[in-house]
Amino acid sequence: MAQDNRHPFLQGLSKHRGAPPTVITIFGASGDLCKRKLVPAIYNLAVDNLLPADFYLIGYGRKPMPDATFRELASESISKFSRRSLNTEIWDRIEQNTYYCSGGYDELEAFKNLSAKIESIEKELGRDVQSVFYISTPPSVFEPIIENIGAAGLAIRHQDSDKHTKVVVEKPFGKDLESARHLNRVIGHVFQERQVYRIDHYLGKETVQDLLVQRFANSIFEPLWNRQYVECVQITVAESLGVGTRGGYYEQSGATRDMIQNHTMQLLALTAMEPPVSLDAEAIRDEKVKLLKAIKPLRFGYENSDVIRAQYTEGLIDGEKVPGYKQEEGVSPSSETETFGAFRLNISNWRWEGVPFYLRSGKRMARRVTEIAIQFKRPPSTLFSENEMFNLESNTLTFQIQPDEGSTVLLNAKIPGLQTRTQPVKMHFKYSATFGSNTPEAYERLVLDAMIGDGTLFIRGDETEASWSLITPLHEFWASEKERGMENYVSGSWGPLAADRLLWDNGHEWRRP
Ligand code: BG6
Repeated sequence: MAQDNRHPFLQGLSKHRGAPPTVITIFGASGDLCKRKLVPAIYNLAVDNLLPADFYLIGYGRKPMPDATFRELASESISKFSRRSLNTEIWDRIEQNTYYCSGGYDELEAFKNLSAKIESIEKELGRDVQSVFYISTPPSVFEPIIENIGAAGLAIRHQDSDKHTKVVVEKPFGKDLESARHLNRVIGHVFQERQVYRIDHYLGKETVQDLLVQRFANSIFEPLWNRQYVECVQITVAESLGVGTRGGYYEQSGATRDMIQNHTMQLLALTAMEPPVSLDAEAIRDEKVKLLKAIKPLRFGYENSDVIRAQYTEGLIDGEKVPGYKQEEGVSPSSETETFGAFRLNISNWRWEGVPFYLRSGKRMARRVTEIAIQFKRPPSTLFSENEMFNLESNTLTFQIQPDEGSTVLLNAKIPGLQTRTQPVKMHFKYSATFGSNTPEAYERLVLDAMIGDGTLFIRGDETEASWSLITPLHEFWASEKERGMENYVSGSWGPLAADRLLWDNGHEWRRP
């Protein structure tokens, strides 16, 4: 038998999965996400032979263009952004099934045309196909798109089979609790929850999924995973990039909406949730919701606040001078938007009562790194108390989500020699060293899972509301206290001093990843 040399993730997938004949329609087809991520993801799925044999791609956008132009743009985006170079033989097969529909998002007629297109594909093929609608537009048009998918009869196709319609909704999912609830209601009028796939692309990252495996497929961690042994947990999602050309969007969003409410909270939920009863999507999502609901309301105000917000000023990144946030394109010179947030959270349940969870995320920080660090309590100091002979650190288990994917355990060890002297050492598992570095991108996994109908790595409606419930009161407070409490940090640093103080209060310190 021929040896399968592909990445283990792909070997595993192709043994167990297969999507039915599918038409993916991407709304926002001339947008950045489609170009940079979605089309390359589809192409890479084709390279790995994971697309169904009958696969069709329809780009939908306001700008009129012939099919041929969209095909050209798609092939350019593969050449530019795909992790693997363009193989024309593979692309040709997708290209001949690629079409473009133009129309407004609030124009029912255009959606009826889209419906006619999908039906003509079915007719030509002589069998049913499932429709996956991928909404990657700005959020202002989510609602008309969803309503028109419903009004054109597209949501209820093949309802009782595995070819039922699916809708994938990009972030941001609302801007506060009320708007998220409203969007859930709009979706609920047209779709059943099992048809809805809310994206948080962090869940598609290979190492985020590995977190579940490391936690629950190893017996050595579970006995320690609680308030008796854990001193604190630190989750860092740091970027060295600034807002770039997205100043307009970011001004309305800020770090809390852009990164904390979604990506960072998801990492927290997976780290702290109870073991699910199975690997079934609902079982995992039930546990995440329970965890999110157990987080104590944030304290914010003038004294003893659990939250620090800050904005970057000019500084150096990799030796290059970069402008401050207020000088960025599309940003108001008097902007009150935070580009950094640090949070101290407490989870009120049996497992975690009294263990602080520290979260931080920011742009223009010292380097790009996402990691989860579980810091364990120190042993009794009867044998080795800290002095010049014993340099001791807390045992820490760190999951490096990106960029150097892997995990590390920090231990204290004896320095060889006749005296007993100690030093912290690291046990390191590196993904690329063990499995090679050609790991699939998050969007490949997510597009495939939506086609297959597996919602595990997507956010359920109640989950997004639970997370907004925590964050929204904070935004309301900030809206009433615009300038108060806004700190600054120099680009290329690890954030403002106030974020360090947030931990000092409990005798803790941020890690320097
Ligand atoms: C997006 C945010 O959701 O995630 C961006 O809107 C951020 O501001 C990006 O840069 C980070 O994603 P990744 O995968 O590069 O860590």
